[in-house]
This record gives sequence, structure tokens and C-alpha cells, in this order.
Amino acid sequence: MIELTNIRKTYFTGELEYQALKGIDLTINPNDYLALMGSSGSGKSTLMNIIGALDIPTSGEYLLRKKPIHELNDNQISEFRNQEIGFVFQTFNLLSKLSALENVGLPLLYADGIEKEERDAKSPNWVNELRPIVF
Ligand SMILES: Nc1ncnc2c1ncn2[C@@H]1O[C@H](COP(=O)(O)OP(=O)(O)OP(=O)(O)O)[C@@H](O)[C@H]1O
Ligand SMILES: [Mg+2]
Repeated sequence: MIELTNIRKTYFTGELEYQALKGIDLTINPNDYLALMGSSGSGKSTLMNIIGALDIPTSGEYLLRKKPIHELNDNQISEFRNQEIGFVFQTFNLLSKLSALENVGLPLLYADGIEKEERDAKSPNWVNELRPIVF
């Protein structure tokens, strides 16, 4: 379950300050499917980056399964993202120097306690599962 309370995001560009999110309250329950719609510049990506733990809010509370994500430091949030979040980007964001297999196995590389053998054994299965999307 995702619970956002009074989430605000302000971007600072030099002297300029821009409030992209001005107090978002949102609850997403397990098995909910949610489409976020709005005009260009309305803050959809900003909000998705916060929900996906790619960015932190300027203020407000973000609970995921009651865990206060807004209180995590950089390392903790990276670990949390690695363990808990799946993200399909519109532009894929694959690393061009890596093979498809290595791209798929990358999160396992960062995950603690997974040895190379296990990673190599698991990654091909994930590639097979991805095939309908890739082609
Ligand atoms: N890194 C940044 N620095 C400064 N301003 C930003 C930054 N990222 C986004 N903005 C501004 O915040 C506002 C919200 O941007 P955001 O990308 O979240 O909108 P969006 O709804 O995803 O738009 P689109 O539909 O075009 O993808 C916009 O006015 C944008 O210019
Ligand atoms: Mg966007």
C-alpha cells in the first residue's frame, strides 16, 4: 500500500524556484491499477519519480507498506529501490555497453547476497519473460 500525504516538490534552478507538486494526497491499495493523467508539465513524471524512489519530495510523507520512505537516506533509498520497486521506463533506459542479459541481471548485481552463479542462472529466465515486450 502506498500512502502519500501533502507531498510537495520544488525545483530550484539558480534563483528560480518552481513548485511542481503542491500538496499531493494519494492512497494506492494493493492490486489497484492507476493511470496518472494530466497536461504536459503538470507534474506526472515528478510524482512517478517520487513514488518510484528515484527522487525525494521537498516535504510531505511517503509510506510504502507503512515504511516511511521520505526518511531514508541515499543509500537506504537505493537499497529499497533495488529490493521493492519495479519500473518500466517509456524509453527503456538500457545500458548500451551491456548485453540484454547483463541489463536484465544488473539489479541482481547490486542486490546483496546474490552470487554470480545464481545471477547468471536467473537472468536468462527473465529475458525469456521479457521477450514479448522486447520484440
Ligand atoms: N529537474 C527540474 N528542474 C526544474 N524544473 C523541473 C525539473 N523537472 C521538471 N521540472 C518542471 O516541473 C514541472 C513538472 O514537470 P514534469 O516533468 O513532472 O511534468 P509531466 O506532467 O511529466 O510532463 P510531460 O507530460 O511533458 O511528461 C514542469 O514545469 C517542468 O518544467
Ligand atoms: Mg513526464
